[in-house]
Amino acid sequence: MRALVVGASGFVGGAILSRLGPERAVGTRYNNSARHGLARFDAARNGFADLTRVMRGDFSHVILAHGAINPELCAECPVETGKINVESMIRLLQEILDARITPIFLSTDYVFDGTRGLWEDDAAQCPNTEYGRQKAAVEQWLQARSRPWLVVRLSKVVSGERNTHSVLGQWVDDVFAGKSMQSATDQIFSPLHVHDVAESIINLAESGRTGIYNVAGPEALSRYELNNLLVASIKALVPQVNVVVKPCSLRDIRFREHRPLNTSLSIKKAAAAINTKLRPMAQVCSEIAEEHFGTPNYCAGRQLGGGRG
Ligand SMILES: NC(=O)c1ccc[n+]([C@@H]2O[C@H](COP(=O)([O-])OP(=O)(O)OC[C@H]3O[C@@H](n4cnc5c(N)ncnc54)[C@H](OP(=O)(O)O)[C@@H]3O)[C@@H](O)[C@H]2O)c1
Repeated sequence: MRALVVGASGFVGGAILSRLGPERAVGTRYNNSARHGLARFDAARNGFADLTRVMRGDFSHVILAHGAINPELCAECPVETGKINVESMIRLLQEILDARITPIFLSTDYVFDGTRGLWEDDAAQCPNTEYGRQKAAVEQWLQARSRPWLVVRLSKVVSGERNTHSVLGQWVDDVFAGKSMQSATDQIFSPLHVHDVAESIINLAESGRTGIYNVAGPEALSRYELNNLLVASIKALVPQVNVVVKPCSLRDIRFREHRPLNTSLSIKKAAAAINTKLRPMAQVCSEIAEEHFGTPNYCAGRQLGGGRG
C-alpha cells in the first residue's frame, strides 16, 4: 500500500499517516500548519492534478479524510459545507477513479437516523441531519460506480489526546479542571480508539477490500457509560478526584437539528475480513488514565476536582 492521505493534519488522517510512515504515505493539510511536511490542499480550489503535481508517486490508494465535519456547521451552512463535503468530494473521487487508483472515503454513522442500533454495512442510508445527508450522498454516488472504491464508515473515534476533538481527551481536561460533566444516557455509539481505526483502515486496504465497511468499536455504549468508564479508571488511580458525571438526554442539549440517538454499528463484516485487534473502551480508558494520571509527580500540584465537582 502506498497512500496519499487528504486531511492528514486532522485527527483520523494524522493517525493513518503516522501508522503508514513516510515510506508509504504522504499527506495534505488545509489551515493547520503545525504538522510539518504536508502539502496544502484546498478542496474548493484544488483537484487531483494539483495533488499529484506536488506529491509524486505510485499511489495504490487515496484516503479522503478531509472535510467540514462539524454537524452544527453543516446544519448552519448547508450550501457552503455541501460544496466541500459533496460537490468537491465527488469531483475528486471521479478524478481518482479515472486515474485507476482506489479511493477510501471516510464516512460516518450519521448516515443513519439513530432509531435502532447495530446498523449493518449494507443497511440503506437514512440520515436525519445535514452532515449525515452530505455523507450519504457521497456513499450513494460511489455505490453507483463500477471501478473499485472503499467506504469506511466510522462511529465515535476517541483517544486521550487533549488538543483535539476526541471526547475522552476533552473529559481528561475537565477532570484536571475539576469540572463536572454531563453526558447523554440515550446517545449510543460504538467508540473506537483512533489507532485501532487507522490500523483497521490500513488492513482493509492492504487486503484489497472494496465496498462499504463499518469500522467501529466492539461494544455499543452510551456517552454517559463511556464518560463513567473514564472517570472510574481515573478514580482507581487517584481516589481524591471528585468530579461528577451527570446523566442527561441528548434531547436536553440544544442543537440545530435532532441528532440521531443510536448510531451503533455492526462490525461483523470487517471482523470477518481482517483480524485487527480492537481494544474495548474499558482498556482504552485505563490506558488513558494511566497516561495522564498514573505518575504521582505529574498529578502533584494539580487541582483534581476538589470542591467544584
Ligand atoms: N472523528 C470522529 O469521531 C469521526 C466519526 C465519524 C466519521 N468521521 C469522519 O472521518 C473523517 C476524518 O475526521 P477527523 O475527526 O479526522 O476530522 P478533522 O480532525 O476535523 O480533520 C479534517 C481534515 O480536513 C481538512 N480540511 C478541512 N477543510 C478542508 C478543505 N476545505 N479543504 C481541504 N482540507 C480540508 C483539515 O485540514 P486542517 O486541519 O489543516 O485545516 C483536516 O486535515 C471525516 O470524514 C469524518 O466525517 C470522524
